[in-house]
Amino acid sequence: MPNVPNHLVNLQGGFKAFLAPPPEGVVRLTVGEPAFDTPEDIVSAAVNAIQTGDTHYTRGEGRESLCSAWAEHLRERWGIPVPDDGIVITPGAKQALLYAMMIAAEPGDEVLLMAPSWPTHVEQVELIGATPVLVKCQYPSFHPKIADIEDAITAQTSAILINSPNNPTGAVYTSEEIHGIVELAIKHDLWIISDEIYTELIWSDTPHVAPASIEGGFERTLTVSGPSKTHAMTGWRVGVLAAPTKVANVVGRIQGNTCSHIPSFLMPAAEVAAKDWRAVEEFRGDYIRRRALMMGLLEEIPILNASEPEGAFYIMVDVRDTGMDATTFAKRALDEALVQVIPLDTLPGGEGHIRLSYAADDEIINEGLQRLQQWLNPQYS
Ligand SMILES: Cc1ncc(COP(=O)(O)O)c(C=O)c1O
Repeated sequence: MPNVPNHLVNLQGGFKAFLAPPPEGVVRLTVGEPAFDTPEDIVSAAVNAIQTGDTHYTRGEGRESLCSAWAEHLRERWGIPVPDDGIVITPGAKQALLYAMMIAAEPGDEVLLMAPSWPTHVEQVELIGATPVLVKCQYPSFHPKIADIEDAITAQTSAILINSPNNPTGAVYTSEEIHGIVELAIKHDLWIISDEIYTELIWSDTPHVAPASIEGGFERTLTVSGPSKTHAMTGWRVGVLAAPTKVANVVGRIQGNTCSHIPSFLMPAAEVAAKDWRAVEEFRGDYIRRRALMMGLLEEIPILNASEPEGAFYIMVDVRDTGMDATTFAKRALDEALVQVIPLDTLPGGEGHIRLSYAADDEIINEGLQRLQQWLNPQYS
C-alpha cells in the first residue's frame, strides 16, 4: 500500500475511546451533549424545508438571511463587530475550527493552546501540519497566566487558541485575561482562534468577553460558535465561523471546494436557531440544578476533589487521593462501579483528573454518583 502521511496516521480520536456506547447497565457521565430534544420550531423549519423541495445547491457560506441572522446575534449578544458577509455556516463548530486553523497556521507554525486542552484542538493543529504548544493553566483555577503564554511565544508562533467557557476544565476566562491575550496577539501579530461554543453556559459572575469585541481584536480573531450545545443540535452539524470579510471570503472558497455547504434544508432551521434563544433559557435552569446536584453528591465522596465549574457542563475531579491514576480510576469505575467517566491524564495538565459531564439528566447523575460512592466508600452504603 502507498504511504499515508505520518501526521495523519498519528491522529488520535480525542475522547472517542471513552465515549463509545458502554455495555448495557453502565451509567455514562461522559457525554458532552444536552439531554434535551431540539426545540420544535427548529425541527419544523427543517421538515418544512425538505418537504417543500429545499434540497438543491445553494450559497456556500450559507444563505444570506442565515448569515445575517448569525451576524446580528454575535453583534448584539457579544459585541463582535462582524458584518453579515463575515459569517460562514459550517458542518458543525468542529469544521469551523478546522477552517480557522487553516487560516491561522501553516505547516511548521506553532499554535499555543491552554492545557489541559480539549483533544480535538490539539489534533486539528496536527492535522494541518502545524505544531501544538501547550501552555499549562494555573492550578486549581485552570485560568491562563498571561506571562506563561508570552513565554511560550516564539518566532514560529502564529496563533493562540482559547476556549472559554472551557472544555474540559469549566474555566471562564476573566475580562482581564481576555484583554491580556488580545494585547499579546497584537504585540506579536498573532491570530486568535476563539472557540465560543459554550458562551451561553456560564454559572459564575464572570461575563463572557469575546476577544473579537475588544479594540484591535476583531481583525485577528476567528470566532467559532454554533447552536450544537445551546439548542441541543449536536447531530445536525451546524457551526458558525465569524471573521473579517476578507477571511470569510477565503473560508467560503475552502468550503465551496470541499463540502459546498451545509444541507440546504438545514439552513432555515439554523436561521430559526440564530433568532430564537428561548429554549436555552430553559436549558440553563436545568443545567444549574444538575450542576448543584452533581457538586452536592461529589461532596459526599470526600476522597474525590471536584473543582467548582464556572461554565460549560463539565466538572474536573481530582482522583489522586484514591491512590489511582485517572486512567486506572476510569477503567475500574467502568468495570467495578458500572460508571463511565473520561480520564484526563493523557492530556498535559489533566494528570490525576477525570471529567464528569452533568449534561445527563437528574436520574443518571444521581445513579452514577451513588454508584461511585458505594464503590469508593463501601462502608457508607
Ligand atoms: C470546546 C468545543 N468546541 C467545539 C465542539 C464541537 O461542536 P460541534 O458539535 O458544533 O462540532 C465541542 C463539542 O464537544 C467542544 O467541546
